[in-house]
Amino acid sequence: MDSETPRSVVLLGSTGSIGTQALDVIARNRFEVAALAAGGGRVDLLARQAAEFGVAAVAVADPRAVPELKRALAARGADPVVLAGPEGVAEVAAWPCDIVLNGITGALGLTSTLAALEAGRVLALANKESLIIGGPLVKRLAKPGQLLPVDSEHSALAQCLWASGPSGTDLRVVRRLVVTASGGPFRGRTRAELEGVTPEMALNHPTWSMGPVITINSATLVNKGLEVIEAHLLFDIPFDRIEVVVHPQSMIHSMVEFVDGSTVAQASPPDMRLPIALALGHPDRLPEVSAPVDWTRAHTWTFEPLDDRAFPSVALARYVGEQGGTAPAVYNAANEVCVDAFQKGALPFLGIVDTVARVVGEHIPGQAESLEEVLGADEWARARARELTA
Ligand SMILES: NC(=O)c1ccc[n+]([C@@H]2O[C@H](COP(=O)([O-])OP(=O)(O)OC[C@H]3O[C@@H](n4cnc5c(N)ncnc54)[C@H](OP(=O)(O)O)[C@@H]3O)[C@@H](O)[C@H]2O)c1
Repeated sequence: MDSETPRSVVLLGSTGSIGTQALDVIARNRFEVAALAAGGGRVDLLARQAAEFGVAAVAVADPRAVPELKRALAARGADPVVLAGPEGVAEVAAWPCDIVLNGITGALGLTSTLAALEAGRVLALANKESLIIGGPLVKRLAKPGQLLPVDSEHSALAQCLWASGPSGTDLRVVRRLVVTASGGPFRGRTRAELEGVTPEMALNHPTWSMGPVITINSATLVNKGLEVIEAHLLFDIPFDRIEVVVHPQSMIHSMVEFVDGSTVAQASPPDMRLPIALALGHPDRLPEVSAPVDWTRAHTWTFEPLDDRAFPSVALARYVGEQGGTAPAVYNAANEVCVDAFQKGALPFLGIVDTVARVVGEHIPGQAESLEEVLGADEWARARARELTA
């Protein structure tokens, strides 16, 4: 990173967990923020961010938030271009800058991912859903080096892969990717013991503080299933060479096993600012992003296999990942509907993955080569999941 010229960043989902942590990294390093986008649910925070970072444009997905946003901006003496609706968010995604960070949650992030890639921007991707549902479409658009992972596991895998050879990543010497999982708040429970789980219990993650959807996805382990598909798409490793191992302390963020029998792991305390900083500063490491592991203290880090009976979501994700085409979009869309129903008390915890499995079972996968094909499958899965959870 050229230390003289600030790198300009467009931040999508700036008011969320990833977005606010990204702004923390940005404020302490040589970056400037070109534009921001959010849903429109936290207008005051968005206006404060826009004023503090002096951005040129702000977009909100919900046009009804615009009058309040304009008032909040004016009150802070800020006068950026204000854009509205999904088109406004996509316009910000393609805004001139050095790097776009997509921290939008869910399938809604796909249009922004495509807009950023089409505009030729380097894309730091926290919004894993857009890669997973738009697999072939996103991969066709992304040029080598254009897509940088922000998910801690994939950031770890990328770092471990740097150890594959002195002249860069050499997949021929990779035996398997080992994706770690904290196991979520219900690790060790049997399926029967998951019956009475409430949204409050599922929102209480033991090691990570994140937005509500990914937190519930971590409790069902759907998030780990999505991450297995994400690893396959990012690193071109077949599903039977991607392992999941439960590591409750969340200190090892993933590992790569090489053909010679050695394994390289990436370790750091669970702090998303590290993978965010690594993507924003790529290829450089930024100074003092987070406190490192304290090696003067005793630590016990444990690893255990995943219980596929209590948590069938990872095996189901492998199945849809192998099917390819529209199958991952259906898995994700059905899950988003079910998570919403669970949060509203309309679906029991175990009903989330059971319903996703039913919708996936009914789906005949088609091609996912165009946005229409992906969105068509996404809409079908949402409608079917709504019927099943009504
Ligand atoms: N949080 C983590 O530690 C973490 C770790 C790894 C990966 N991720 C991934 O990062 C993404 C974001 O997660 P999160 O935990 O940061 O979620 P979050 O806290 O719920 O934040 C979501 C952000 O997206 C905005 N948003 C919602 N709908 C939008 C739309 N249609 N257009 C533009 N912006 C919209 C929200 O705005 P409002 O505030 O206006 O609603 C908010 O700024 C997810 O894909 C997640 O899987 C997160």
